[in-house]
Amino acid sequence: MGVINVIDHNGNQHELEAVEGWRVMEIIREHGLPMEGLCGGACACATCHVIVDEDWADRLHPARDDEEAMLDEVPSLEPASRLSCQLIWDETLDGLTARLDGDLVRQKLEAA
Ligand code: FES
Repeated sequence: MGVINVIDHNGNQHELEAVEGWRVMEIIREHGLPMEGLCGGACACATCHVIVDEDWADRLHPARDDEEAMLDEVPSLEPASRLSCQLIWDETLDGLTARLDGDLVRQKLEAA
């Protein structure tokens, strides 16, 4: 077992228990944080956008072309942006720290 650390749209940090083989998007959503993941991980919506901690950005596998293409659609794109559905948790990701896309979360909450 390991953890991921997620900083929510209010700046609060949450340590979430991770599950081997689960998408980071799924882990965040299962813990009740505002993560939409509309397409279920098919790399077709970008509603799972997160910004990973700089220390982690270079430790992750590079984004594939389809992830890059979806990230290009994200208005709040940052250098360390990733789609959390494309990050499958294993022990090498223990302690991964990522921030939710505040703009995306606020849009989702306003629409609810
Ligand atoms: S959940 Fe749709 S792109 Fe990640």
